[in-house]
Amino acid sequence: MKLIFLGPPGAGKGTQAERIAERYEIAHISTGDMLRSEIRNATPLGAAAKAYIDRGELVPDDVIIGMVEKRIQAADCKNGFLLDGFPRTTAQADSLGKLTDIDAVVDIEVPFERLVARICGRRMCPDCGAAYHVSYHTADTCDRCGAKLYQRDDDREETVQNRLVVYEAKTAPLIAYYEERDTLIKIDGDQAIDSVTDSIVKGLSK
Ligand code: AP5
Repeated sequence: MKLIFLGPPGAGKGTQAERIAERYEIAHISTGDMLRSEIRNATPLGAAAKAYIDRGELVPDDVIIGMVEKRIQAADCKNGFLLDGFPRTTAQADSLGKLTDIDAVVDIEVPFERLVARICGRRMCPDCGAAYHVSYHTADTCDRCGAKLYQRDDDREETVQNRLVVYEAKTAPLIAYYEERDTLIKIDGDQAIDSVTDSIVKGLSK
């Protein structure tokens, strides 16, 4: 199974992708996580990407496309994969279409006014990548591995506003792009986390 998760920043793509990838035993590929790992490891790619991410801009298409092309050929993708945060532009979608066929594109929809609170309240685990929200997780350590949680630099309100503007301009047009290709499944992401998962599973089973 080859899936794409679309949706604005904070829609819950990462939260749901982890659950769905585990359920269908496919690789979870988050381009955001890949870039953050490059930054942590102080690679040249990470250094180049950091300036874009910190401004809430997209990293250039050629960098991202090359990274994903290599990643989807890895051994853990033999049962399929779930792309979380890719593609984000029409050029990325066109390139992906030349590399492989996609079975379904899940678009997680959440009203814009909810997104800023979701993102600004997010806390991340630097070791296992788990995401929490301050509204339901008050401890400052990760439940899974005990590491100290942190706030992503691009989760501060000034940057979040720009990420939402960039999403509308560059990524939202992909909804029509995949609708025209009959692969789009729209999901109401403004429900409890478990209910969103159930809706996605139901949508995919069709
Ligand atoms: P990336 O890391 O992909 O960020 P994003 O797409 O902006 O998405 P987020 O991670 O902010 O949100 P999410 O939808 O995964 O939500 P989550 O599940 O965490 O990209 C970061 C940057 O990298 C980009 O800005 C860009 O610079 C660069 N980049 C990455 N890919 C690129 C590409 N393809 N091309 C170019 N540049 C690229 O949930 C958010 C919060 O809400 C959490 O606290 C969570 O607990 C909570 N939550 C989740 N679901 C619910 C729910 N149902 N109800 C209540 N709270 C919920």
